[in-house]
Amino acid sequence: MTTKTPTSQAIMGDPGPTGRFGEFGGRYVPESLVPACIELEAAFRDAWTDPAFRSELDAVLRDYGGRPTPVTECGRLSEQLGIRVLLKREDLTHTGSHKLNNVVGQGLLARRMGKRKLIAETGAGQHGVATATAAALFGMECIVYMGEVDTQRQELNVFRMELLGATVVPVTSGSRTLKDAVNEALRAWVASVEDTHYCLGSVMGPHPYPWMVREFQRVIGDEARAQCRELLGGADPDFVVACAGGGSNAAGVFAGFADDTSSGLVAVEAAGGAAVTTGIPGVLHGMHSALIQDEAGQILEAESISAGLDYPGIGPEHAHLAELGRARYVSAGDDEVIEAFRLLARTEGILPALESAHALAWVTAATGRGEIAQGSTVLINLSGRGDKDVAQVREILRGRS
Ligand SMILES: Cc1ncc(COP(=O)(O)O)c(C=O)c1O
Repeated sequence: MTTKTPTSQAIMGDPGPTGRFGEFGGRYVPESLVPACIELEAAFRDAWTDPAFRSELDAVLRDYGGRPTPVTECGRLSEQLGIRVLLKREDLTHTGSHKLNNVVGQGLLARRMGKRKLIAETGAGQHGVATATAAALFGMECIVYMGEVDTQRQELNVFRMELLGATVVPVTSGSRTLKDAVNEALRAWVASVEDTHYCLGSVMGPHPYPWMVREFQRVIGDEARAQCRELLGGADPDFVVACAGGGSNAAGVFAGFADDTSSGLVAVEAAGGAAVTTGIPGVLHGMHSALIQDEAGQILEAESISAGLDYPGIGPEHAHLAELGRARYVSAGDDEVIEAFRLLARTEGILPALESAHALAWVTAATGRGEIAQGSTVLINLSGRGDKDVAQVREILRGRS
């Protein structure tokens, strides 16, 4: 995509009632869902400016979720790469990924709106587990839609959701992955909008989700900037790097650093789902964004070892940040991701989620190419822990030997 001059809208600010980030975003939903989206936007605007809501959210994230998460200095990895690597440890939040930040926010909002039921889509299962957790915590019913392929590769997370009291519905249409789970969840929301909140898991979908989810994830970037400044004598890191599926952990961490240009922002997509670098603008799941599609506009299947990045699009604000040139969008392939997974395990004693390992894979490769200069400081958002991926990595490594 080409670079355009910034518009007057503040970088990573409020997109306003149209939900547009430049030309991207919007609300492309069936007429029957428009009132629900408008009701949700109004409820979120009201809650977000209500100190009582904000302090309840902060308290749950602190006392239940484990926030603030630390920033970890990686001594051995830094020495090996010749750069200073810092990790923002979202893997240490309750349920093991950044997804909890968003679902606690949406759960509290749904309760405030008088909804009794949460529905969600999930890919890797992390967002489903987080939503099932929030539903249990707030005493709500929970249904999670999950592509059949993902239910097989993330079997343990399906069981976790069931233990938490959720019903998991395997989706058998299309590629039977995340894209199809979102379709099914949107369909279910149309049919039950009166008492149900659709707890969407990333910065995608119709307005207000891309903005609302980014605001719920902004806590990552706000914390990280203060923590980095303390560690770096008031300075910001040279690079802030995060993996991107729909783009919520990247948007959350970028939001803390986007207002000035001292940190280069880099989002790493799966090579087989690189919506920004290989996609073209189009409409999917209620938003206008960068999507991988064929010349006739048919959405192509994303291909990645990591279920959480197996999505043919990306949130509209990312398409906009790419167009402005404020963030760079790159990709990492499956093999280098496995190497990065092993590297972090051996050097730092941390098993990252395969999704998060994409960010480290790019940092390693870019350092090797000199794109990240020796001595640079790099903050990687470690979006989740790798326990859910251990069995899959074992299969892959066994297959190699
Ligand atoms: C640990 C982890 N990181 C990243 C992602 C990708 O989502 P997003 O791009 O919205 O952060 C997922 C999705 O399931 C995930 O589980």
